[in-house]
Amino acid sequence: MKQIQKRSSCGGTRRRVLGVLAAALVAAGGMLTGESAQAQPQGKLKIGLMLPYTGTYAALGTAITNGFKLAIAENGGKLGGREIEYFTVDDESDPAKAPENANKLVKRDQVDVLVGTVHSGVALAMAKIARDNNTLLIIPNAGADDITGPLCAANIFRTSFSNSQMGVAMGKVMAEQTKKTAVTFTWDYAAGKESTGGFKEAFEAGGGKVVKEMFLPFPQVEFQSYLTEIAALKPDVVYVFFAGGGAVKFVKDYAAAGLNKTIPLVGPGFLTDGTLDAQGDAAQGLLTTLHYGDGLNLPKNNAFRAAYMKTYATAPDVYAVGGYDAAQLLIVGMNAVKGDTSKRAELVKAMEGAKIDSPRGPLALNKGHNPIHDIYLRKVEGKENKVVSVAVKNLTDPPRGCKL
Ligand code: PHB
Repeated sequence: MKQIQKRSSCGGTRRRVLGVLAAALVAAGGMLTGESAQAQPQGKLKIGLMLPYTGTYAALGTAITNGFKLAIAENGGKLGGREIEYFTVDDESDPAKAPENANKLVKRDQVDVLVGTVHSGVALAMAKIARDNNTLLIIPNAGADDITGPLCAANIFRTSFSNSQMGVAMGKVMAEQTKKTAVTFTWDYAAGKESTGGFKEAFEAGGGKVVKEMFLPFPQVEFQSYLTEIAALKPDVVYVFFAGGGAVKFVKDYAAAGLNKTIPLVGPGFLTDGTLDAQGDAAQGLLTTLHYGDGLNLPKNNAFRAAYMKTYATAPDVYAVGGYDAAQLLIVGMNAVKGDTSKRAELVKAMEGAKIDSPRGPLALNKGHNPIHDIYLRKVEGKENKVVSVAVKNLTDPPRGCKL
């Protein structure tokens, strides 16, 4: 600092003249290319990835990161002509640490775009910080209904789903299969409550009855006493929300207790996505609902799966799709403003109107910036979640108080 002051104090008139000349040249360059100096891309675009890389959702965070980076690589490694710099934080799926973690990216690293996360409780905290700081946030997984409902905001987008969507779809399917009674079981936080809540709403609207709703704290996996209770209640069907490491253990424990022979187990597709290698025989035949299926025979899905396989030497899952589409959405916005993030209104408008060719099929957003998409009924066959039918076509959420 001192040195600079010293230099400028003895720089004299010659230095000032050179400075004026340099400024004039920059302005002239801008005029020649028909752009103002301000509209030039502003260096590297800073992207903050806040995802779980440890804990029960660790594999999900990795798949999202892979999917996101694959779409960017397919776009020439840039966004709106700008190089990218990544800043990464492991959020551990811990809501208590979420404000501090999000602030590391928003305040310390000053990211232009925040991308995350998996866990709804963590995402709710991120959404608050994104709103308070007007940071652009794209959610590639966490389904907390409120984020695109009463808490919706112009700067917050989601490319995955909302939690109740899968429950609603499965509730409808089970009622159509004339199941009469159900037990729901999940972790006691937003995702589990909203997923099982959606199931209950649709199942009971279709004539069924949820006879018991059971919860255990996240991320506990001591399922035994709950399995004993399910066996005693003997419902027609059991609907559970578990994902990642918890889903692997639950499906194996359910089969080990022999319940898979007597009471059908169903859930949102998270129960069997990215988990089939570890679940093995225990998962065979399970029915789930999700906006994605491994074998969807769409040109985009086939190309996506081949590229992902080639890059990461492993098969993609629904989480990879969420990350991939988060980048696809950002590409639309950044192209519209040619990398100039100061044109926020234009960027948001382009993202709102985006029609994305997703590996899941066509993807558009509703007013609250939440996906409108088909929900598939899938069945586990070998190492694949095979699409059986479309459970709900073009599913969109009710506005839930979103004022956008
Ligand atoms: C969520 O917390 O919203 C969540 C977590 C894992 C999933 C799906 C939703 O697989």
